[in-house]
Amino acid sequence: MRAFPQTIHFIGSNMPRRMEVAIRDLDVEGQIPAEIDGAFFRAVPDNAHPPIYEDDIALNADGMISRFAISNGAVDFDIRYVETDRYKAERVARRALFGRYRNPFTDDPEVAGMDRTVANTTPVWHAGRLLMTKEDGLGYEIDPGTLDTIGKWSFGGKLRSETFTAHPRIDDETGELFFFGYEAGGLCTRDVAYCIADKDGALISEQWFDQPYAATIHDFVITGKYAVFPIFPTTTDMDRLKAGGAHWAHQQDLESWIGIMPRYGKVTEMKWIKGPVGVSAFHEVNAYDEGDLVHLDICLTASNAFPFMREAGGIHIRQQELQGALTRWTIDMSAAQPQIVESPIGPPGDLPRIADADQGRPYRKAWYLSMNPQGGPPMPGGPVGANFNCLLSIDLGNGRIELLGVPPGAAISEPAHIPSAETGHDGWLLTVVDLPNNPDPSQQIPGDYLSELWVLDAGNVAAGPVAKVKTGLPLRSQVTAPG
Ligand SMILES: [Fe+2]
Repeated sequence: MRAFPQTIHFIGSNMPRRMEVAIRDLDVEGQIPAEIDGAFFRAVPDNAHPPIYEDDIALNADGMISRFAISNGAVDFDIRYVETDRYKAERVARRALFGRYRNPFTDDPEVAGMDRTVANTTPVWHAGRLLMTKEDGLGYEIDPGTLDTIGKWSFGGKLRSETFTAHPRIDDETGELFFFGYEAGGLCTRDVAYCIADKDGALISEQWFDQPYAATIHDFVITGKYAVFPIFPTTTDMDRLKAGGAHWAHQQDLESWIGIMPRYGKVTEMKWIKGPVGVSAFHEVNAYDEGDLVHLDICLTASNAFPFMREAGGIHIRQQELQGALTRWTIDMSAAQPQIVESPIGPPGDLPRIADADQGRPYRKAWYLSMNPQGGPPMPGGPVGANFNCLLSIDLGNGRIELLGVPPGAAISEPAHIPSAETGHDGWLLTVVDLPNNPDPSQQIPGDYLSELWVLDAGNVAAGPVAKVKTGLPLRSQVTAPG
């Protein structure tokens, strides 16, 4: 194709922008708190070239890294492509050479065997190293100053896994990076690598195990004692891929599983616990120990949240009808055969954020995105086709919810959390909000919007932003979903 398709994966906030920019001193309305000093990195997908196939999806687009650099209330903004092997090959060819999402059998034969990852899902910062990640390959190291792509990061050649998750977990006290890779031994394998890097970034442990079926494992959690692998029945199949089909299909009649092992233990100590049939989640909020109990907080849905993964599995549920809730699974590890006890703890939603210091520990506050039915129509775009329109703050002690909505037709992206030095202060949130140029929902044109960075008091999100930073540009939706 020489033109972009006009499907949901290429309109609205998924419209190809392909802008590499460097802007100094963005317009700031309000006052950015002085203690916010540093960089907010975002991963966004943005096709450098029209796709080979009309039915391409947003998750298959080239990764870009963007950075809001904030100091003394001033903000500079940059976007650059991640120069993956794939991006460089297509740039030379001036066209797409790689075919469908995570299906190498649909590629142009001239790129057979070349690394396909687009590094478009999550920026990961650990031990002074910035990685752009996507779960189908290794992370790409980026120079945090210039945003130049340095190259694939394999822990100095030590990592055997072919893949690295977009959602590792860092223990804030020890500085260790806990991570995994699935399809670690190659396409459609059940191999999962569970790994630990020390606070200096050195790989100190890599152990492999088999998961119950070849599922996407987008996220996992650690507690003080355990590493916890939630497995949901969205599976891959080599025959389907060879026939040119989808990488993922949800299987509504299969059980979910929890794999749980001591976090410094051996994978042979893994206990497998059966979970509910057909459910799905892409993100866990957090997990922690309470004596022998393990509490695991999940953005759970009754089926897969992605229409194309449901449809590939023959499941026909309209997006608005998908049921879900912020859900706690509690497991008593002292039981001979531990079971999952499930309780809903909050409204449905996704893209959760907690304070880094709370990772794996008892915690009080979390923030996540949701859809407010009273908030007007959602902005088209994003990986599922409709963007979230509100941010929720939940107090897990008393269940209290606060809501920050955006105007009708606007979109809000996954927030980042910045701790405050002030005792008792919940810190700050940074989130990108996309605002249609026409406030009247009946007159809005998909893709006609400008993006702002909102700075929020994390303890009072309902009050709205303390500062708005205007990019003057329509930015692409973050991926923040399965890569
Ligand atoms: Fe994600």
